[in-house]
Amino acid sequence: MATNGTSSTNGDPNKVFLIWGGEGWVAGHLKELLQQQNEKVFTTTVRMENREAVIAELDRVKPTHVLNCAGCTGRPNVDWCEDNKEQVIRSNVIGTLNLTDCCFLKNVHCTVFATGCIYAYDSKHPPGGEGYLEADPANFGGSYYSATKSKVEELMTTYSNCLILRLRMPVSDDLHPRSFVTKISKYDRVVNIPNSNTILHDLLPCAILLASAGDTGVYNFTNPGAISHNEVLALFKKHVRPDFEWKNFSEAEQSKILKAGRSNCELNSDKLAKRMQDFGVQVKDVHTAYDECFQRMKANGVK
Ligand SMILES: NC(=O)c1ccc[n+]([C@@H]2O[C@H](COP(=O)([O-])OP(=O)(O)OC[C@H]3O[C@@H](n4cnc5c(N)ncnc54)[C@H](OP(=O)(O)O)[C@@H]3O)[C@@H](O)[C@H]2O)c1
Repeated sequence: MATNGTSSTNGDPNKVFLIWGGEGWVAGHLKELLQQQNEKVFTTTVRMENREAVIAELDRVKPTHVLNCAGCTGRPNVDWCEDNKEQVIRSNVIGTLNLTDCCFLKNVHCTVFATGCIYAYDSKHPPGGEGYLEADPANFGGSYYSATKSKVEELMTTYSNCLILRLRMPVSDDLHPRSFVTKISKYDRVVNIPNSNTILHDLLPCAILLASAGDTGVYNFTNPGAISHNEVLALFKKHVRPDFEWKNFSEAEQSKILKAGRSNCELNSDKLAKRMQDFGVQVKDVHTAYDECFQRMKANGVK
């Protein structure tokens, strides 16, 4: 059975959410949030590239809103994509476009959980600068994953039913293996570069607000500002694991142990912050958001 769902009479009776990639990490968080908000929510694991199955699923569930959290990200990490390019295209190019197109034909709003890892700092966008705007052309293709994601994003902006949310280095309130904090806390050595990050606790409710309001177009979906790896780990040490120690190495040293390049950049999240004001929501800056995230982690007994 590809789909399972829960429903409630307390949410908006006119909305039906269908989460694609239903077994994934971000999908699980979204489902929980929508259930807490008493919305009608279903999940599916139907493959995005299978057009007949996608259409059948849309006809069966009849969602008003698809939340597309499906995607091929590579295991154990994005380097996997370098050796499995056809599979990456099948999911992240053919699949993502197919699902968006099927939603368009069925008049369903489609929110895509995309990536901001399509930029790299340059002379016009240095660390500490204004950050990349939504309309800036992608300039990072150092990994096959990022190269395909930026091409697909460009095509998806054509669709009038499509909301594109660019996440970066997402972080949950636990130490889930997919969370950025978990990853860097386990590395032997880490680089130390400021980046935009997405604290899921703060931003997933914003995704539901934007989708529900029928917003379309691209949003840099990160907490305002940028934070370095060392700043993140220092806050982790302060709140969660007092005896935590880590070692740094340079980007040049890092590149020797990676197959693909990694994006480092700051996204300008003014558009998101401004739009959220319409809903009475203030998006917390990334340092405050991390501080509060680690305090929640500690309160929940994470060590
Ligand atoms: N986590 C990050 O660091 C990060 C950062 C920025 C953006 N994102 C984006 O956010 C989205 C969700 O990420 P996540 O961390 O939740 O990933 P995840 O835990 O790997 O979940 C992705 C899910 O999508 C499914 N999937 C893959 N290809 C599919 C296809 N062709 N059709 C249907 N389902 C498919 C996977 O199922 P199978 O395992 O069965 O293939 C998996 O359950 C992804 O698109 C990712 O690119 C993630």
